Amino acid sequence: MNLKEVQSVKQRFGIIGNAPGLNYAINVAIQVAATDLTVLITGESGSGKESFSKIIHSLSSRKHGQFIAINCGAIPEGTIDSELFGHEKGSFTGAVDQRKGYFETTNGGTIFLDEIGEMPMGTQARLLRVLENGEFIRVGSSKVQKTDVRVVAATNVNLLAAVEQGKFREDLYYRLNTVPIFVPPLRDRGEDIELLFRKFTTDFAERYRINPIQLSEAAKLMLLRYPFPGNIRQLKNIAEQISILESESNKVIEAETLTKYLPAVSSQTPQAPMVLPGAYSDNNSFSERELLYKVLFDMRRDMNDLKRLVLDVLKNEQDGHEILKNNKELFETLQSGDLIPADPEKAVARLLPASNLIDVDDYDASDAPSEVTVEDITHETEEDDSLSLEKKEKEMIVKALRRSNNKRKYAAQALGISERTLYRKIKQYQIDEED
Ligand SMILES: Nc1ncnc2c1ncn2[C@@H]1O[C@H](COP(=O)(O)OP(=O)(O)O)[C@@H](O)[C@H]1O
Ligand SMILES: [Mg+2]
Repeated sequence: MNLKEVQSVKQRFGIIGNAPGLNYAINVAIQVAATDLTVLITGESGSGKESFSKIIHSLSSRKHGQFIAINCGAIPEGTIDSELFGHEKGSFTGAVDQRKGYFETTNGGTIFLDEIGEMPMGTQARLLRVLENGEFIRVGSSKVQKTDVRVVAATNVNLLAAVEQGKFREDLYYRLNTVPIFVPPLRDRGEDIELLFRKFTTDFAERYRINPIQLSEAAKLMLLRYPFPGNIRQLKNIAEQISILESESNKVIEAETLTKYLPAVSSQTPQAPMVLPGAYSDNNSFSERELLYKVLFDMRRDMNDLKRLVLDVLKNEQDGHEILKNNKELFETLQSGDLIPADPEKAVARLLPASNLIDVDDYDASDAPSEVTVEDITHETEEDDSLSLEKKEKEMIVKALRRSNNKRKYAAQALGISERTLYRKIKQYQIDEED
């Protein structure tokens, strides 16, 4: 990678950041610009996909041709064919005149098709044709015309999933995806968050002739840990809000103040990856955190059972049949496939679908085990540890039962354990199912 070239492109297009993923994406854009290949830019909303289309056009041999950006999600389904490919007079109600489409007027240039995943199936067929051999037909015409347009497309949805759901043509997907460019989400760009925040607040201060705001160390840390579901667009809005509302005080912004500007993130954020507890501290990690607790409880229980078993063997020198008989339950759970996989991430993933039976968003933040962190667990003494774990386990069972109206079957599913195990635990903890 030619880092110098990457840096100069960043400067030219006003792109801030040094994250390796960003540099890599820019480098691919530079390399591919000179070719005439179709490019598909993927990345979450607000991650900065638009600049990439401009880089590609400006560094290509088409740079003196037209560049036009079209948001496929913003054009009504009934008019998108005509907007892109034109129409003949009288071809539909309202078509009082003949009209040229963008593929005709941008001949020799570049069209940026943003939110390509929103393109209707019929339009997709027309697009495929123009990509394959440069041919298109105006709506209401039968005359085949030729054009020479380079297409750069962008999407914030998983197009392959859309293909599987029958919403996006598979052939078009592969045709578009000749060269993919992935723009990383802001939360994966580390220090870039701070760089961007500083840029936006200084820009803003300059524009309004005020002092740029400053963050305390704790506030900076909080900003770096925030998941930014809206990516750079969201960070920019937040930077402006704080600048407007807090510049008066002329003080360093503390974490406490900053929290007010960072909205709680729902666990339903479509593209947010699964986050393990401790990755960042906001309300949305409760469900995952609880699941991780569950994995810990179960491992703990299995360990204790095993310890007891080994002790029994060593102390009493009982034979195998005796051991089996005395530990029927333990062996039953082992046989019923209630084992926890060695990989905790897999274990949590295995548990996640079941937990959806009960809406995890219904959790009241106040009764989730928010104040206990993973560090707390490792630092507690062994006895306290198992006691508090048992307490949490009981709490979780009571909660699951309550939310499934005491239907054991659903509560067990939600907890990711067998009904039999749940039954055993209800007895063990003497849980009253009536309240
Ligand atoms: N690296 C960057 N440096 C500075 N501003 C950026 C950067 N990337 C994006 N932006 C700004 O963030 C906002 C969102 O970018 P945009 O390209 O519209 O996102 P997307 O198209 O991926 O939804 C725009 O205001 C853009 O100017
Ligand atoms: Mg966009």
